[in-house]
Amino acid sequence: MAKNIYLIGGSKGGVGKSLVTMATVDYLQELGESVLLIESDTTNPDVWKAYKDGTEAELVNLDEADGWIQVVNLCESKPDSVVVINTAARNNKGVSAYGETLNSTLVELKRKLVTLWVVNRQRDSLELLKEYMEAIPNSAVHVLRNGYFGEERKFELYNGSKLRAVVEERGGRSVTFPDLADRVSDDIYSKRMSVAVAIKELPLGNRAELARWRNEAKKVLREVMHD
Ligand SMILES: Nc1ncnc2c1ncn2[C@@H]1O[C@H](COP(=O)(O)OP(=O)(O)O)[C@@H](O)[C@H]1O
Ligand SMILES: [Mg+2]
Repeated sequence: MAKNIYLIGGSKGGVGKSLVTMATVDYLQELGESVLLIESDTTNPDVWKAYKDGTEAELVNLDEADGWIQVVNLCESKPDSVVVINTAARNNKGVSAYGETLNSTLVELKRKLVTLWVVNRQRDSLELLKEYMEAIPNSAVHVLRNGYFGEERKFELYNGSKLRAVVEERGGRSVTFPDLADRVSDDIYSKRMSVAVAIKELPLGNRAELARWRNEAKKVLREVMHD
């Protein structure tokens, strides 16, 4: 598939960016793609810890100009890898200040930037997305309602928003990311396991739940990763 850059955003802490990033890397690896993971949550690099042994992974600080330069250079140096960027809470400031560094090099990199924006049910999730879309106008943006926070219909604020209309007019999709049972997500987080490792090592019941979730996540990601 195209060697896109997938940026997992959401800006807020705790909305599910790390879990969506893990699902994205897992999905790409299942497709046989080589993946370059860029972890920008330098204070809590949870995805990096779970994936550094299974894929190429770098820690980069996107709050500084230097981090964005590094991202561009990494993208250039690995033309055969799909790039997945896990962002940290409050990275929006860095995006507004330095995102243009990446934005302006996409043509030369011959890569498309695809943003998967994870939302909970609160208003600030939407305000931050608006800010992001203004800072990086070149990105395709899809919105993932994180099912961890409730059923699709409960995301009333987003579902009825003008922003949703804008996202969809621009060709973005709105999808619902599946909820994984707490005891299994707790396993993955506390043991710093990748999905692929957990699906081999957890007890049978946990593995069955993980396989169900992985399959649901795959269906959702297929809708937003192949445009
Ligand atoms: N879809 C989901 N299914 C199960 N648990 C989830 C899901 N999304 C988030 N969580 C839980 O919420 C917490 C925060 O998720 P995380 O991915 O670390 O958020 P972020 O990276 O945005 O801070 C984690 O403890 C995780 O277990
Ligand atoms: Mg995180």
